[in-house]
Amino acid sequence: MTPPASPLSPPVIAVDGPSGVGKGMVTRWLAHALGWHRLDSGALYRILALAAQRAGIGHEQQEAVAALAPGLEIRFAGTTEADEAILVNGEDWTAQVRSEATGGLASRIASAPAVRAALLQRQRDFRQAPGLVADGRDMGTVVFPDARLKIFLEASAEARAERRWRQLSQAGVDAKLLDLCAEVRARDERDRKRAIAPLAPAADAIVVDSTQMKPDEVLAEIGRLLRVCGIAP
Ligand code: DC
Repeated sequence: MTPPASPLSPPVIAVDGPSGVGKGMVTRWLAHALGWHRLDSGALYRILALAAQRAGIGHEQQEAVAALAPGLEIRFAGTTEADEAILVNGEDWTAQVRSEATGGLASRIASAPAVRAALLQRQRDFRQAPGLVADGRDMGTVVFPDARLKIFLEASAEARAERRWRQLSQAGVDAKLLDLCAEVRARDERDRKRAIAPLAPAADAIVVDSTQMKPDEVLAEIGRLLRVCGIAP
């Protein structure tokens, strides 16, 4: 059991929520606006899932998957979605990390307690001055329970699938909306129903439902929450 972080530890803003809800947009914006670090915890699960796949280890072999974590030297470069680069042991894994298939694999390994334990301290190590914006599923409940502000972003599965479909269409990818919707629902089901660290708002989280909101309306609401909490003027 890790001792609680000291009150002098750098502050954390936890942003949790299901896949495709816009956490990436919100956490990038927050990190940029505040000049804080950003943790994309989902990318760590994705990288570990890919490493297991490359090593020929099935997602159900949780101890073997977890054992790969310490050997991964991970570097995140870039600050926007467009210039993002994810380097693993010096190799560029960005495109594979971001694929839909890897998201599904990550969701499968993420239900294993050994895997979650293997990544816990690695996530906490991102907590550095002047502060951290943490993006994930259990940032406010498990990884940073003492976060200064906890935001839980929600949106209907249909709205999230449609946003993803628009993004892919704009990128020239021919995706089927119904297939995306089914994938979003399947991933939600796994992430929300797993026994350990299930996707759920912390008791002290503020839930922002963006189903009917445009991106700039979501950011305006988050900006308002920062001011209410005294994190921004
Ligand atoms: O946020 P994402 O889509 O990149 O995450 C991929 C998967 O990783 C997600 O379906 C569940 C898992 N995950 C998790 O269990 N806990 C986190 N803090 C982040 C991601």
